[in-house]
Amino acid sequence: MKTLKIAPSMMCADFLVIKEVLDIFIEQKIDYLHVDIMDGHYVPNFTLGKDFCRAIASYTDILLDIHLMIENPDRFIGDFNLFRNAVVCYHPETSYHPLRTVELIKKHGAKAGAALDPSVTVQSMKYLLPDLDMLSIMTINPGYAGQKLIPGTIDKIRETADYIQEKGYKIEIEVDGNVSWQNLPAMLEAGGEVFVAGTSSLFEKDGDIAQNIEKFRSILKKFEKKGSSA
Ligand code: DX5
Ligand code: ZN
Repeated sequence: MKTLKIAPSMMCADFLVIKEVLDIFIEQKIDYLHVDIMDGHYVPNFTLGKDFCRAIASYTDILLDIHLMIENPDRFIGDFNLFRNAVVCYHPETSYHPLRTVELIKKHGAKAGAALDPSVTVQSMKYLLPDLDMLSIMTINPGYAGQKLIPGTIDKIRETADYIQEKGYKIEIEVDGNVSWQNLPAMLEAGGEVFVAGTSSLFEKDGDIAQNIEKFRSILKKFEKKGSSA
């Protein structure tokens, strides 16, 4: 069984106390920091940018999981080359030459991933998969936090996990969108490995982030134990 990981979605954090939030993540040895980059074109919203990435990368060594929801990613990928060992996931339908975009990400020292819009199948990525380190399955329409899971996407996680296992690819399967306490068990059963934790878990209203991390970890541990005893 692969290591199960948590990737807090930084766009869901309270920006007025971002340093305190990062201190909790450092203390808790969180796996990834998920950073959503939106351009107002590919998605009808704007969020974080390279300066935010630069600021948090200067404060912590936690790996960045950069989610590019932008058109023409090749033009901007160079802006992110500061963050070695980061994972950069882009939406292949935004690139004229998806494989060239993967090569560009790797040329800048980052790991390469693809983020799949709910309507995009893993099979359509067949010739891209051998070069990927991560596949991010969007379980909501990209663009906003706080949305409800699109029901059919749990089956899509399972189909993707089976396909990747069958092909023997070394790809981490990330799940992004409405990773709630209710949805997490089904996402785990389906084969998810990296979980973007946002408004319906770590950053839930009036919640305690440190306690929520422990709660999240105990759910992952229980599943790992179940897997290893099966
Ligand atoms: C949305 C982003 C997600 C979002 C998740 O397009 O890609 O990472 O922040 O937020 P929740 O967990 O609230 O769905
Ligand atoms: Zn995201």
